[in-house]
Amino acid sequence: MKVLLIDDDPEILDLLSSFLEMKGYEVDTAETGKDGLSLFRSGEYSLLISDYILPDFDGLQVSRQILSMDENALIILITGHGSIESAVSAIKAGVFDYILKPFDLEQIEVAIHKAEKVIALRVENMKLREVIARSEGADNLIGRSRAMKELKGLIRRVGATQATVLVTGESGTGKELVAQAIHRASPRADGPFIPINCGAIPDNLLEDELFGHLKGSFTDAITDRIGRFEQAEGGSIFLDEIGNMSLALQAKLLRVLQERIVSPLGGEEQRPVNVRVIAATNLFLAEEIKKGRFREDLYYRLNVIPIHIPPLRERTDDIPQLIDFFNRRFSGLMGFPEIRFSSTAMKYIFEYRWPGNIRQLENFVERMIVLQPEGHIVQPEDLPSDIHMGATGGIDTYILEGSIDLKAKLTEMERFYIEQALELSGGTRSQAARRLGLKRTTLIQKMKKLEISDKVLKKK
Ligand SMILES: Nc1ncnc2c1ncn2[C@@H]1O[C@H](COP(=O)(O)OP(=O)(O)OP(=O)(O)O)[C@@H](O)[C@H]1O
Ligand SMILES: [Mg+2]
Repeated sequence: MKVLLIDDDPEILDLLSSFLEMKGYEVDTAETGKDGLSLFRSGEYSLLISDYILPDFDGLQVSRQILSMDENALIILITGHGSIESAVSAIKAGVFDYILKPFDLEQIEVAIHKAEKVIALRVENMKLREVIARSEGADNLIGRSRAMKELKGLIRRVGATQATVLVTGESGTGKELVAQAIHRASPRADGPFIPINCGAIPDNLLEDELFGHLKGSFTDAITDRIGRFEQAEGGSIFLDEIGNMSLALQAKLLRVLQERIVSPLGGEEQRPVNVRVIAATNLFLAEEIKKGRFREDLYYRLNVIPIHIPPLRERTDDIPQLIDFFNRRFSGLMGFPEIRFSSTAMKYIFEYRWPGNIRQLENFVERMIVLQPEGHIVQPEDLPSDIHMGATGGIDTYILEGSIDLKAKLTEMERFYIEQALELSGGTRSQAARRLGLKRTTLIQKMKKLEISDKVLKKK
């Protein structure tokens, strides 16, 4: 285990480092916060022990910077009696432990043992997660339909290459899962898989996320920051929702893909990257190109190997196995018995269009497990109304018996579809508007009129 010690008192540094070395740890030392930070950045330390008062920074400032580089960093602060309060705020900021002055070496040892336990637990956890991922399989892609079998074959073949892949498919079809499977099926499987959602991050931040920055390149840039491209070195980067990236950033991305070089913000430096690119979108990029929202040249760079995931309604054969899978996952997680459906209920489930695809099916199974009484077999009338309304969905099944209030009926349908579109778009109004063929402003007006609240937005 490698430990970094920061203290401006050379005697204490000496004392602590010889004690820790005697105990079998590898130790590096620094006398200022600045030196400590640059050591931390270049080395792999399991633990940082720092004096609270340093000539340049205080312990809280150092800790914040370290934690922003590595949120899992374990930090122990040594503080004088006067600064207990600051020690407490340090703990709140994510510092692992603090030791009060004057301290004896035994206290240090105890604190380090605690930290070692945490490290061991984390390793254990990671192993467990790997086991789960493996037992769910290279095959945590559930489904035996023809479409799924073809998809899995394609993933194996594409995985073996270095080619850039563009994964397309409606929302919730499993694009991220497929991207992970490609990475795992590749010679880079032991390298990192770094996902980034290009649709969820504002433009200026996205550039910083992707390419990083040098210290001082803007006001908040107090340290260098490595971008996701460099984090993915030796592995794969997953550029999710690439269709929502701004044109300016698309141009920059294109250059990175052509030259395989990134330049962090605020410098001229060009750093080569060895990264496989997997991109995904639920937009129809050909259409986006026509509308001038997506660069054609970037499209061809990304679309070296296209992988399209068909929507769930085109592979309904997979539904029973998926229900089984989610049944096992959720009943196991929540300690409820698995949910069962009557054969007529299953018919509705097969005929429903599943606009939110597998994610919607997953949420549906979870909700049914929680809401239905134990042992009850789900009947059609227990199904959510949109599924119960049948495959044709709402309107065709309305039969005029006597008279209706048409206005009220239409309002009801409008609300129904708007809420659904918002839910499917994860609350992104512009995306929901696109689904409905409305302008964003029109959608917002309608939401106001119908008093569709933000709660709906945050449901997902
Ligand atoms: N074949 C599958 N087998 C098991 N689970 C799946 C499968 N496909 C998708 N899922 C699950 O469905 C959910 C949605 O998948 P994922 O996030 O990969 O979809 P997506 O296409 O990226 O969606 P979006 O466009 O909304 O981001 C996830 O919880 C995922 O685990
Ligand atoms: Mg996704």
